[in-house]
Amino acid sequence: MNAIDSAAALAPRPMLINGAWVQAASGETIPVENPATRQPIAAVPRARAADVEQAVAAAQAAFPAWSRVPPRERGRALLRIADVLEARTEEIARQVATETGNALRTQARPEAQGLSQIFRYFGGLASELKGETIPLGEQVLSYTRREPLGVVGAIIPWNAPVLLAALKIAPALCAGNTVVMKAAEDAPLGVLLLASICQEHLPQGVLNLLTGTGPEAGEPLAKHPAVRKLSFTGSTAVGKLIMGWAAERIVPVSLELGGKSPCVIYPDVGEEEWIIDGIIAAMRFTRQSQSCTAGSRLFLHRKVFDSVLARLSAKVATLKLGDPLEESTDIGTIINRKQFDRVCSYVKEGLGRDDARLVVGGLPPNEGPLSKGYFAVPTIFADATNDWRLAREEIFGPVLVAIPWEDEAQMLRMANDSHYGLAAYVFTRDIGTALRTAHQIEAGWVQVNQAGGQVPGHSYGGYKQSGIGREFSLEGMLDSFTQRKNVSVNLALPPPPA
Ligand code: NAI
Ligand code: MG
Repeated sequence: MNAIDSAAALAPRPMLINGAWVQAASGETIPVENPATRQPIAAVPRARAADVEQAVAAAQAAFPAWSRVPPRERGRALLRIADVLEARTEEIARQVATETGNALRTQARPEAQGLSQIFRYFGGLASELKGETIPLGEQVLSYTRREPLGVVGAIIPWNAPVLLAALKIAPALCAGNTVVMKAAEDAPLGVLLLASICQEHLPQGVLNLLTGTGPEAGEPLAKHPAVRKLSFTGSTAVGKLIMGWAAERIVPVSLELGGKSPCVIYPDVGEEEWIIDGIIAAMRFTRQSQSCTAGSRLFLHRKVFDSVLARLSAKVATLKLGDPLEESTDIGTIINRKQFDRVCSYVKEGLGRDDARLVVGGLPPNEGPLSKGYFAVPTIFADATNDWRLAREEIFGPVLVAIPWEDEAQMLRMANDSHYGLAAYVFTRDIGTALRTAHQIEAGWVQVNQAGGQVPGHSYGGYKQSGIGREFSLEGMLDSFTQRKNVSVNLALPPPPA
């Protein structure tokens, strides 16, 4: 990039408040870096409390009218947005790949393709915001209404930024709420593009998008007295803060907070080749394992332990790390320096343990083309026990621990011995074994003999410290973004006075 190009690229992109594209009140910006090159690619406004104030005021002002738009019309706005998102998929995908380092073919493009599906799904559900009638007898008409909550404060992370933004925007707006969202400081550009597409089809103030840091913009948003619902995806540490602030003023929260999910291989399928792809998919290696649903604890039956690991490491070693925009690239980069250093520290810890056996991977190269970006190498440590820090903490990077097991009950105790409970993967041809295991694992989402991503329609969310509330589904929309009102009408009035 020459000096002129880089200056143009760094001209600050505005954020969205009350239908207008604006800079931060302070005029400050924060740089956005391409993690594959470590070069700045743009700057975005550094929102603070004053900007939060304006955005919340705009959302509050827009709420009465938006909440009274007939739901089917709100749904039609979402459907129109879906059409544009579909037409502009590639542009969004490339933007996300550039700012996150996620590989275009394996991650950024499928993520962008999911946007129109999410907007269509929720757009079509608008008329399902139904209430009930309660049979209290002929003298009373008692019914419930699903009413929106008001201004939703939404905070999202960087790992699948546009998908996670869509998952909050579409159901919240469909249900008649207005939204103030804060994008993650590491990945605001795709979300700004998404917001600009939405804004073309929405009244001003219905959707507001702030860019800025967690403490400077996220915290005042979460603490704002006019925000009536908090929806957060990110770390458990910040989730706890959000829940504490919500408790101060009794507002409902939805939290999606990551995991340390088990991937269980039974011996009956251990010799089969498709298992290898299943383990790789569950571990989300092609997303650098920066996924809350990564199957990062591999419980491999002892009978097939060595044979599976041998084939797994051979396959993992063929995955191509490189330029995220290159079609042949399987694996891109870690999001930023902080996360990269964190992932490396876990690898170092594994390398430093006498009882840990490195099967594949290790520390990233410190010379050659990959050393120019935050490329972490897919790494597997074997002979782990479930009490290792590597087996307990969410690494959010491509470091898999393989734990041998023989006794099913003991394996299940280990699988459940985690403060997380988001996802799980079970591989066996025996349907009885599969369902017995699926039902005993403490997790909000169990996949058997597959390891795909979330699909609109299924209620997605965590047990234990993986979170509260569900997303992706009709029930998730109703529970997270509406409140019920009961109206009871006495039909047995005495005759009016003559
Ligand atoms: P984070 O939880 O700090 O960031 C997520 C969002 O919360 C960002 O928009 C950030 O600006 C905001 N935030 C941060 N501090 C805040 C505060 N005090 N008040 C309000 N908002 C705040 O996550 P981070 O630091 O990016 O990643 C750390 C770890 O979190 C990862 O290693 C991973 O374990 C976990 N994580 C889980 C995710 C998930 O999908 N559940 C996504 C991203 C991270
Ligand atoms: Mg943080």
